Amino acid sequence: MISPTLRPSLAPSLSRSNWAQPFPTAAVAHSMSMRFRMMHINGHTKLIGFFGSTYQTSKMYALYNSAIQALGLNYLYVPFAVDDLQQAVAGVRHLGIAAIGITIPYKVAILPYLDALDPMAQRIGAVNLVINRDNRLIGYNTDGSGAVQALQEQTSLQGKPVCLLGAGGAARALAFALSDAGCPLTILNRTPSAAQALAQAIGPTVAWGDYSALPASLTTSTIIINTTPVGMVGSGREADSLVPSALLEPSMVVMELVTNPRETPLLQAASQRGCTLVYGQRMLLWQAVHKFQLYTGVEPPVAVMEQVMGGE
Ligand SMILES: NC(=O)c1ccc[n+]([C@@H]2O[C@H](COP(=O)([O-])OP(=O)(O)OC[C@H]3O[C@@H](n4cnc5c(N)ncnc54)[C@H](OP(=O)(O)O)[C@@H]3O)[C@@H](O)[C@H]2O)c1
Repeated sequence: MISPTLRPSLAPSLSRSNWAQPFPTAAVAHSMSMRFRMMHINGHTKLIGFFGSTYQTSKMYALYNSAIQALGLNYLYVPFAVDDLQQAVAGVRHLGIAAIGITIPYKVAILPYLDALDPMAQRIGAVNLVINRDNRLIGYNTDGSGAVQALQEQTSLQGKPVCLLGAGGAARALAFALSDAGCPLTILNRTPSAAQALAQAIGPTVAWGDYSALPASLTTSTIIINTTPVGMVGSGREADSLVPSALLEPSMVVMELVTNPRETPLLQAASQRGCTLVYGQRMLLWQAVHKFQLYTGVEPPVAVMEQVMGGE
């Protein structure tokens, strides 16, 4: 029986003509909608759900379902409207849902309802997916590994000093993963106490401060990463960058986590200064690729996922 607290919005999401809208080409959208029409749902279909405030606007349904279809797997990825998280997690157990993608506001809130955490999720203190293994719910976090893989498309990491702007949830995931990858870290944040707390959680060699330390920090950093919403549509600071253009050098790698717009004021300035760019979409892609591997246990069809996402 479907719990009244779990309202699968599958029907509206698949019948809406705009379900694939966030991704670019009409040809891709058409080919995906043809594939969905040919889907075979049966008694063995495994459900992967999504819990998050963006469940109606998330761009990831087309990405995962296209990857599932490309491999001929018997899975379906669907949004859920959650009104009671504890009951919703109970629903995952009682309905035998195979896995759940998690985003804000549940990345930390869901922890008390899980049975175990992967070591990286444990260190980060937040999850972005949950796997149901024989009714044991295990939390994972692929934000850090996704960011590292996006960076590694452009640069090696071992020994490269990173200046991380921001000390929120995403910064925390990146900081642990970058530290593991051998990057000396400086964490700068509007609220320096948050930067200090994150630095201390990672280790005694991590420097921290507020943005007044940016000019000094950038004299030694080769990689700069914006993990704040500054520059994002709807942030109220769409036109802004935390990094003055004059501080950017052509030898620097500049990474943005913001995905909307694709080219933020920071990336525009970095492009003009001849820096190497890493777009937020690349992290979004790789964290999703890593999730897909965990959801299904099979090698993700990266080219398909990349095509649906529209490339870089
Ligand atoms: N590309 C991807 O795959 C991906 C994945 C995850 C997140 N993201 C993006 O990363 C960004 C941060 O997400 P999050 O989950 O880490 O959020 P969060 O936990 O709320 O943290 C927000 C961080 O940004 C800082 N900040 C917020 N508004 C600011 C402003 N006006 N000026 C300066 N600093 C400001 C905050 O500083 P204070 O501590 O001073 O408040 C904090 O350090 C979002 O834009 C999100 O969409 C992208």
